[in-house]
Amino acid sequence: MKGKFIVFEGIDGSGKTTQINKLSTWLRSSDLIPKNNQLVITREPGGTKLGKSIRSLLLDTSIETSPDSITELLLYAADRAQHINEIIRPTLNKGDWIISDRFCGSTLAYQGYGRKLDLKLIKNLETIATQGIYPDITFLLDIPVEESIKRRINRIDDRIEKEGRQFLSNVSLGFQRLSKDSKWKKISAINSTEEIISEIKYEIKKLLKNK
Ligand SMILES: Nc1ncnc2c1ncn2[C@@H]1O[C@H](COP(=O)(O)OP(=O)(O)OP(=O)(O)O)[C@@H](O)[C@H]1O
Ligand SMILES: [Mg+2]
Repeated sequence: MKGKFIVFEGIDGSGKTTQINKLSTWLRSSDLIPKNNQLVITREPGGTKLGKSIRSLLLDTSIETSPDSITELLLYAADRAQHINEIIRPTLNKGDWIISDRFCGSTLAYQGYGRKLDLKLIKNLETIATQGIYPDITFLLDIPVEESIKRRINRIDDRIEKEGRQFLSNVSLGFQRLSKDSKWKKISAINSTEEIISEIKYEIKKLLKNK
């Protein structure tokens, strides 16, 4: 039996890590995952050993030359191809569940709507990298750009986070558009963490009922 693939998307500081932690605690103590199966938590970029090196090429601010937009896109695609082959597909084939902090939606939002690269080109690359594996559900944690900036006030920004307000606002608009897809669920992430997780739990139960 195939496992379930759950993805969290959203701009920086929208609460992805917070909610993934809450969801995994709940799922591990629930009987929703079959007894002999596990829950795997992963992320992009950097879900594999090779991916960790790619992640540092992408996000490290100490590298003097920033990658060109197309180079950046290809690095994300390479990270994803490795992630699919090494982690995501084998996990799902075992019937295990997997939660990923970011996936294809982030590439469309950041490289497409943020960097203005052609969306068709990104989708073509996505097909190559994912080889037909798509999430059962993608949660968009939606917060205003101002709130994202406020929440990250004491954190050191990585290379992408340094892009500034306008860039983030374009990315946010991209996520809004992507969330119109029937496999996405947009959640207002300015609510309390408890309200958000209860909405997420509700959607997961609904997903299992409709399978
Ligand atoms: N619903 C919430 N209300 C208020 N603060 C929150 C909420 N959810 C998370 N936070 C706080 O906002 C900050 C960012 O949250 P978190 O690290 O979970 O976001 P993230 O989406 O994983 O960010 P990044 O993309 O940078 O990894 C943290 O300090 C967290 O405690
Ligand atoms: Mg995080």
